[in-house]
Amino acid sequence: MSHISTTTVTSLESEEVDEEQLVQDLVARLKQRITHDNPKRNMRRDAHAKMHGLVKAEFTVLADLPPQLRVGLFREPKTYQAWVRFSNQDSAISPDINADIRGMAIKLMGVHGEKILEEAKSAATHDFVLVSTPIFVTKNVAEFDAMIKAIGSNIFAKAWFFLSHWRVLRNLRSAMKPFSNLLQIQFFSTTPYLFGDRAVKYSARPHLPRQEAFPEKPSDDFLRERLVRDLKQNEIVFDFCVQFQVDKEAMPIEDPGVLWRETVSPFQAVARIKILRQEFDSETQREYGENLSFTPWHALPEHRPLGSINRARKIVYRAISIFRHESNQKARFEPDSWHADFT
Ligand code: HEM
Repeated sequence: MSHISTTTVTSLESEEVDEEQLVQDLVARLKQRITHDNPKRNMRRDAHAKMHGLVKAEFTVLADLPPQLRVGLFREPKTYQAWVRFSNQDSAISPDINADIRGMAIKLMGVHGEKILEEAKSAATHDFVLVSTPIFVTKNVAEFDAMIKAIGSNIFAKAWFFLSHWRVLRNLRSAMKPFSNLLQIQFFSTTPYLFGDRAVKYSARPHLPRQEAFPEKPSDDFLRERLVRDLKQNEIVFDFCVQFQVDKEAMPIEDPGVLWRETVSPFQAVARIKILRQEFDSETQREYGENLSFTPWHALPEHRPLGSINRARKIVYRAISIFRHESNQKARFEPDSWHADFT
């Protein structure tokens, strides 16, 4: 199916099952689901299909970081242009008031150095893919594949899956909630990444201290409307942070369904994300965002994704990105700077 292999693991990881076969199953299932969900043949992402906005940001690596934080991308203080794509998690385009997980995908541009992905080794992009919950729903690709299979089956199969996987249900219930403002959410990687020879998780922590009230009569797209309103007036800042693994048992690599406690290892800021004051909500910019492809594997080797879920994502994101671009007759590309003015 792909020349990209899931099988090589670092010394921090362990592979328990035949992931190659499971990942192929998963890709086939997701393609089927996308085709079913998009009868008009405009193929969207399987997950995070609804884009709230694609916005311009500057990602600045902090000066004077202590030696243990000066690794890979964070070795020298520098400012990168970035795109940030805010999204829902569902494969459907649903009203924003619904309980859901929200996504924040960050694409840095102008990052020098050879990247991991064979086909994008010389790309100058580096992605961070984050969501609004610190814990992922499943332990590994086997459990994830079983969940997607059950969700696509009848009510009995679904009920049986969740009854026999109570932790998946618990993690889903804690993650799925309504959010009132995207710029006030703390986002997390949930899965771990190399940081030199150690493992970390990432988080983007907003500077905005308050939680805005929900609108009395929420429109289907009120999260986009609030993003437009806020960014028209102000720039907004998030800290980009890393959390070191300090205990192999309590902070496992192979199970992102387990919370790495901040009381044991706090998140430390390594960069600042400044979302610029801007007007972004044009048709052309929306289409541009639809046609971008984010993956945690657009990364320098010092920040290689770790664990079963991330190994699966290496194949799945590429396969689904190719599938939707080919179906929609669009070219896949990696940007090297902000595109010309869209507005
Ligand atoms: C085996 C587990 C997973 C599978 C199968 C999966 C699948 C996918 C797929 C197919 C896409 C669309 C890719 C594209 O067409 O370009 C996607 C996007 C996304 N995923 Fe996952 N995912 C998994 C785990 C995760 C995890 C652990 C996170 C946590 C951060 C996450 C966050 C996101 C986000 C934020 C996007 C939207 C990226 C964008 O804006 O383009 N996913 N996922």
